[in-house]
Amino acid sequence: MDPNNLSRILRQVKSFPGMPTTAAKLLPLLREPDSSSARIEDLIKYDPGLTANLLKLTNSAYFGLPSRISSVRQAILLLGRKRLLQLVTTMCMSGLMKKSVPGYDLPQGGLWRHSVAVAVAADRLVQSLKITQADEVFTAALLHDIGKMVLGDYVQGDLKGIQEMVAKGISFDVAEYVVLGTNHADIGARILKSWSMPEELVHAVAWHHDPDQCKENCRLSDLVHVANIAVRSIGSGMTGNDSSPEASSRVLARLGLDPSGIAALAEQTVQEMAKLADLLNG
Ligand SMILES: [Fe+2]
Ligand SMILES: [Fe+2]
Repeated sequence: MDPNNLSRILRQVKSFPGMPTTAAKLLPLLREPDSSSARIEDLIKYDPGLTANLLKLTNSAYFGLPSRISSVRQAILLLGRKRLLQLVTTMCMSGLMKKSVPGYDLPQGGLWRHSVAVAVAADRLVQSLKITQADEVFTAALLHDIGKMVLGDYVQGDLKGIQEMVAKGISFDVAEYVVLGTNHADIGARILKSWSMPEELVHAVAWHHDPDQCKENCRLSDLVHVANIAVRSIGSGMTGNDSSPEASSRVLARLGLDPSGIAALAEQTVQEMAKLADLLNG
């Protein structure tokens, strides 16, 4: 491990782009149950590109709405505040996250598709387990691998050493840590911290591969961990010859899930992703 490398990585976290402006304004509204729909509408409607994409997606097969909608106000009414905010955040992050990422076998759009799949899976999981007060799980899942955007170049630079460890059965995220002194989960958590995201979201990103390390506010971390495993089981987000990981037994027990529940979640996610093809390929 090269300490100069590590300080270069940490400097790069500091210069990583800020959260896209509209998302930064809208996300706090998700945490304010009393925020008015008019305020949300105001933030969206003056951004023509965002409005056009929002209407296109709201009218897509994913939501299966009975009639065509043509205004931001209708979209808020039909989807509800929470769903609409999730959707808009997703669209705001797409510009940043659609870039190709070296080091992780991620072509242009690869990180984006994987991130949306994990967000969709996490959302389904919350619904099927009837978990309340987990509105932010979608955002946490969407951003869980954002650290790869900083760490990719460094992983690429030390790929041989990392791959040798992975070939011996060590998981990719642990190999990153041994070789680079940090990993994409740690870097992602630092990015979210620099964006002033709530602690529970920071934890979810920090511990998505190692949820047993999470000591407090771990509900989002548990959910993102399981959603990521389900999505990896369908071949999305695997790097090189990294093996398909198993979910933490403690997390499964906490959530009351078994491996068949993860298989069912993976299957549902494949179906939901097919309905989102327009967003993902656009
Ligand atoms: Fe990851
Ligand atoms: Fe992932």
